[in-house]
Amino acid sequence: MRTRATELFGLDLPLFAFSHCRDVVAAVSKAGGMGVLGALAFTPDQLEIELKWLDDHVDGKPYGVDLVMPAKVQLPEGVKAEDLEGQLEEMISQEHRDWVEKVLAEHNVPPLPEDGPGGHHLLGWTDATARPQIDIAFQHSPSLLVNALGPPPKDIVDAAHERGIKVAALASSPRHAQKHVDTGVDIVVAQGTEAGGHTGEISSVVLWPQVIEAIAPTPVLAAGGIAHGSQIAGALAMGAQGVWTGSIWLTVQEAEAPPAQRDAYLAATSKDTVRSRSWTGKPCRMLRNDWTDAWEAPDSPKPLGMPLQYMVTADAVARGHRYADRAKDVMFNPVGQIVVQMNRVRPVREVIYDLVQEYLEAVERLQRLSPAAEA
Ligand SMILES: Cc1cc2nc3c(=O)[nH]c(=O)nc-3n(C[C@H](O)[C@H](O)[C@H](O)COP(=O)(O)O)c2cc1C
Repeated sequence: MRTRATELFGLDLPLFAFSHCRDVVAAVSKAGGMGVLGALAFTPDQLEIELKWLDDHVDGKPYGVDLVMPAKVQLPEGVKAEDLEGQLEEMISQEHRDWVEKVLAEHNVPPLPEDGPGGHHLLGWTDATARPQIDIAFQHSPSLLVNALGPPPKDIVDAAHERGIKVAALASSPRHAQKHVDTGVDIVVAQGTEAGGHTGEISSVVLWPQVIEAIAPTPVLAAGGIAHGSQIAGALAMGAQGVWTGSIWLTVQEAEAPPAQRDAYLAATSKDTVRSRSWTGKPCRMLRNDWTDAWEAPDSPKPLGMPLQYMVTADAVARGHRYADRAKDVMFNPVGQIVVQMNRVRPVREVIYDLVQEYLEAVERLQRLSPAAEA
């Protein structure tokens, strides 16, 4: 399978896999696609460890790093990351903190132990906290730097290019995609609303061709709702140069997840997801549960914006992971509508093998439709 995306990176498959787990990233890269590590939740020190590990474990294959630098978060300028966190904490109302405690208490989710590590509150989704991550990324060997929520700053695009690193950015509308291209990105990931995580409102099948046409000849990766090889064939038929996946890697053998969370993904259907601002402050697709419902209740204080809402909920994420059995109805379970197809735990290699087989079957089906094939 050769496309402009495979040629850019020397890949065997036009398959990009977003994951927070380094084992998944390495396994996809070694299988011929490109694993991309979601760096958002790592402190710079942790990211240093993860990227060193990847450099040592991808056998020289290309991998990527994904950051979240939202274009629309307004923060005081010139404040250092350490001071910024304190200032932002002061902006959170007691009502919001009490609401989190109330919802968790109703489900008997205990607090974190006093002496244990707390939740990481201010993630890498501000300029001040993402730039130290980028400095770390530049000390390692990623082939691709990706930005999630908005065009990456121009100076970062230029600095990546100087180091021979390609830059991609996620877009949920043709307008977003054009902004990315104007900033100089090499690849746009067109992500439909069915995707897991932060997502827009336009469905993949409507969005992909619009973006492909709007920014041609910039290569587009199709994202949102891909868990079957026929969907890859559909995306390539529309003109995408590859596919970008996220949800399917949540239930692979190599992924780290509390069993209660993995079971929730394995059991869920497409109707069980919802776009909710209840964890991060921006619309994010996840499993609907008592937590997402609580933040929709008439007496709820309503979610704050990004990054404040996650600062209120970070400990709840950590508590959910630590006490997953008790917290199973109030956990943060980001995932897309293709969760319905995630019903078996398989190793990464098997998932990729199946995707390729299904892709080939889809292409054969199309070939049988053409009169030339019948003759
Ligand atoms: C658990 C989860 C977390 C995600 N976090 C991020 C993120 O930090 N940065 C990002 O660019 N995309 C993130 N995404 C979106 C993925 O990069 C990808 O676009 C999406 O999963 C594709 O749609 P799919 O879920 O239907 O495969 C996340 C997706 C999931 C499922």
